[in-house]
Amino acid sequence: VDGILLQLPLPAGLPEKSLLERLAPTKDVDGLHPVNLGKLVTEDPSGFRPCTPAGILELLAHHGIEIEGRNAVVLGRSTLVGKPLALLLLQRNRNGNASVTVAHSRSRDVPDLVRRADLLVAAVGSPRFVRGEWIRPGATVVDVGIHRVDNGSGGTQIVGDVDFPTAVLVAGALTPVPGGVGRMTVAMLLRNTVLAWKRHGEAARVPSD
Ligand SMILES: NC(=O)c1ccc[n+]([C@@H]2O[C@H](COP(=O)([O-])OP(=O)(O)OC[C@H]3O[C@@H](n4cnc5c(N)ncnc54)[C@H](OP(=O)(O)O)[C@@H]3O)[C@@H](O)[C@H]2O)c1
Repeated sequence: VDGILLQLPLPAGLPEKSLLERLAPTKDVDGLHPVNLGKLVTEDPSGFRPCTPAGILELLAHHGIEIEGRNAVVLGRSTLVGKPLALLLLQRNRNGNASVTVAHSRSRDVPDLVRRADLLVAAVGSPRFVRGEWIRPGATVVDVGIHRVDNGSGGTQIVGDVDFPTAVLVAGALTPVPGGVGRMTVAMLLRNTVLAWKRHGEAARVPSD
């Protein structure tokens, strides 16, 4: 076994923190063990990066969206998405170097914070939370949310944390839900797993003294 993912959120009553700590950091392909989170803080590339934030950076880089020097606003401060993403956006490299604001449920005037964003990432966990009128024209908007909601005609549909119909009229770029960040998360999980497999192979080849 080269990689292990603890699928979050856990059912009520299971201790997330202590279960994450039981993973071997070298097999923690979701990057949520304290050792890997510490390496994220210290910009140590030997750690695994959490998949959803890493996927967002990969998506932005692929589409040539500049981050350096821009105002990035992250809505949400979870350990799974908001906090690691804020750290990645801050990193001293060409895929980082943003000025980062992190908003949460106690933040004042969230629409006003959103209006300052050149890059907005919504990871709030509330369907269609971000309205188009909050968004600065031309801003890049990344929607992390996934919610199944009533479609008004007896069925259901998947929506994100951003109100797509109003946001798409203002944003310079906007990720779809489904088919955006979710797919990138899966791709990064596979990348980390292959990386774990390679590193385990290299470790096995190192002769012991
Ligand atoms: N696409 C993917 O691969 C993927 C991966 C992970 C998660 N998700 C989705 O992304 C969303 C967020 O996930 P998560 O795990 O980060 O959720 P979470 O743990 O519930 O965190 C939500 C964050 O949003 C903040 N928040 C809640 N209401 C707010 C408000 N009115 N204004 C500003 N901030 C507010 C919360 O603040 P407090 O800290 O103050 O409570 C919290 O920090 C969910 O819809 C989840 O299903 C998608």
